[in-house]
Amino acid sequence: MKIFLDTANITEIKKGLAFGVIDGVTTNPSLVAKEQREFIPLIKEITAAMPGPVSVEVTASKPEEMIAQAEKYAAIAANVVIKVPINLEGLQVVKALAGRGIKTNVTLIFSPSQALLAAKAGATYVSPFVGRIDDISGDGMALVEDIALIYDNYNIATEIIVASVRHPLHFVQAAKIGADVATIPFVTLAQLLNHPLTASGMERFLKDWQKVKP
Ligand code: E4P
Repeated sequence: MKIFLDTANITEIKKGLAFGVIDGVTTNPSLVAKEQREFIPLIKEITAAMPGPVSVEVTASKPEEMIAQAEKYAAIAANVVIKVPINLEGLQVVKALAGRGIKTNVTLIFSPSQALLAAKAGATYVSPFVGRIDDISGDGMALVEDIALIYDNYNIATEIIVASVRHPLHFVQAAKIGADVATIPFVTLAQLLNHPLTASGMERFLKDWQKVKP
């Protein structure tokens, strides 16, 4: 499973890259707003720091304006993937961008039917938001299972990005289902690695090692 970092923060991206296991980055308008920086220079910096795909979201609502934004963002760097919300306009934009060879990540996916339509329109990735479904007492991972089954039924190449990840269990469940990608906040990346028994085990080994004569 590929691991993307879900952040627009350069420090987090650089720290994340030091783990040696990060394959890409996803941003969204809320994450970008948190950085309080000019948008285009920020995206330039992220795409230069991150060798893998970097999702950048369009914010216009009319298809022609979304396409114009997408072309502008795609011109920033070869690794830009255009994030498009799932709705009628979004589907039209995904189809147009696929025709121009521009990769897309269809976002705000909350149902299997949305994921199937996005794939049919030519989406490179779809992003089901598992945490937001769990937040309202739904089952986010059941959605991922459904999408995986449907894509498997029809040999669909669109990749599933498990998004809105809240904790390590989401990450493990995504891997058990066989999702292509999990996009995770930086804080979750650190949680994936740490275990109290590893820490106490190390401490005991090092303490005992002091007693060994060279
Ligand atoms: C995915 O691409 C989104 O940026 C993100 O995962 C949304 O997460 P949230 O529900 O924690 O805002």
